[in-house]
Amino acid sequence: MSNRVPIIGGNWKMNTTLHEAEALARALVRSLGDVSAVEIVLCPPFTNLQAVSAIIGSTNVILGAQDVFWERAGAFTGEISPPMLTSVGAEYVIAGHSERRHILRESSAVVNKKTRAALAEGLRVILAVGETREQRHAGHTETVCADQLRDSLADIPSTEMARVVIAYEPVWAIGTGETATPDQAQSAHAYIRDWLADRFDRETAQQTRVQYGGSVTAANAQSLLTQPDIDGALVGGASLKPDEFAAIVRAAQSP
Ligand code: PGA
Repeated sequence: MSNRVPIIGGNWKMNTTLHEAEALARALVRSLGDVSAVEIVLCPPFTNLQAVSAIIGSTNVILGAQDVFWERAGAFTGEISPPMLTSVGAEYVIAGHSERRHILRESSAVVNKKTRAALAEGLRVILAVGETREQRHAGHTETVCADQLRDSLADIPSTEMARVVIAYEPVWAIGTGETATPDQAQSAHAYIRDWLADRFDRETAQQTRVQYGGSVTAANAQSLLTQPDIDGALVGGASLKPDEFAAIVRAAQSP
């Protein structure tokens, strides 16, 4: 057993109107208020951050955002800056989610700018990496993850890594109902940890949490979370269902 505290993130994506977000946050605070030893991070859309922040208050549930821009302020229509996020109580931000890499064409260089700007503002970052189905079938899973990690973490020193969580999210498993098997996920996580040891040092690699994302449900959470290098989950679809998400958090509490 590692001493890494498991982290379960709920990535609500482009779901929830204001009232839906409030209802979901209330239900989760009610059912998860007693959980200790698991970090619980809710990532609602920007428009609902402030409302969810008010509901979370000083409970054990933490607020995160789904994206951030790299400048602090200025003429960047439509963008949201790191200080805007901290000002509404966000402590985490997701960077490099595959939907942004693939649908919005974000490069790892852009992900790196966002990651550095978020860290500079005191935010913690969930940095997502992962291969497509074609890349896996071509045997490129590890090189794809290595390239994304190298470029997304460029110029970030080991001292900053205490505030970075890596999310391994194979693109073919996201929103598809096709979860990576525990062995497939463990093997990628172990590779990522070795990569971190090479890029930084062994201690940083041991302390950095690597969470799995891609069709995590209450039914498969336990088999994933018992793997030695899987330190939590980033949950999309199932995070919109309070009972399902709560069950995933509880699986992380006592896998
Ligand atoms: P999913 O999404 O759980 O719906 O597959 C995970 C993610 O994109 O973070």
